[in-house]
Amino acid sequence: MTVRPATDADAAAISAVYDHHVLHTLATFDLVPPTLEHRRAWLADHAGGRHRVLVAERAGAVVGFASSGRFRPRPAYDATVETSVYLAPDAVGQGLGRALYAALFEVLAGEDVHRAIAVIAQPNPASEALHRAFGFRHVGTFGEVGHKFGRYVDVAWFQKDV
Ligand SMILES: CC(C)(COP(=O)(O)OP(=O)(O)OC[C@H]1O[C@@H](n2cnc3c(N)ncnc32)[C@H](O)[C@@H]1OP(=O)(O)O)[C@@H](O)C(=O)NCCC(=O)NCCS
Repeated sequence: MTVRPATDADAAAISAVYDHHVLHTLATFDLVPPTLEHRRAWLADHAGGRHRVLVAERAGAVVGFASSGRFRPRPAYDATVETSVYLAPDAVGQGLGRALYAALFEVLAGEDVHRAIAVIAQPNPASEALHRAFGFRHVGTFGEVGHKFGRYVDVAWFQKDV
C-alpha cells in the first residue's frame, strides 16, 4: 500500500470510493453522487497549500483518500481546515485510514494550518477511533441536523490542534 498526492487522473477512482458512501452509508451527507466534472474541479482546488487530497493505492488501485479543505468560506477561517477520509468497503480496518491521516497531517504540518475540524455522522465508531488517535477531541454534537435514508441523524464535531 502506498499513499501519494492525488492527481487529476484519480478523479474517477476517488469518485468510486466516495459514491459508495453517498449511496449506502451516513459517512457523507451528499445524497447524489457528484459528477466527474465536479470531482475534477474539486481536485484542482485541493492541489496544494492547506487544501490537499491524498490517495491510498493497493495493487495499483485507489482504495481510499483523505482530504483537507476549507472549513467555512469567510477568510478569518483560513487557517482552519475540515479533514475527511474515505475507504472502499473492502479496505477498512487494515490501517489504511491511519496511514492516510498520518501522511495528510505530515503535509499540513508544513502549512499555515492552526486547527482541523472533523464532522462525524453518528454512529461511526471507526471514524471516532481514528480521529481520537490523531488527537481530535469531541467538542459537541448537533442533534438530528442531517436527514438521510428516511431519518434524522446526529452529527458529532471534533477538533484538533495542528
Ligand atoms: C473511518 C475509516 C476511514 C477508518 O479507517 P480504517 O482504515 O478502517 O481504520 P484503521 O484500521 O486505520 O484504524 C484506526 C484506528 O481506529 C480503530 N478502529 C478501526 N475500526 C474500528 C471500529 N470499527 N471500531 C472501533 N475502533 C476502530 C483502530 O483500532 C485504530 O485505532 P488504534 O490505531 O488506536 O488501534 C474507515 O473505516 C472508513 O473509510 N469508513 C467508511 C467511511 C467513513 O466513515 N469515513 C469517515 C467519515 S467522518
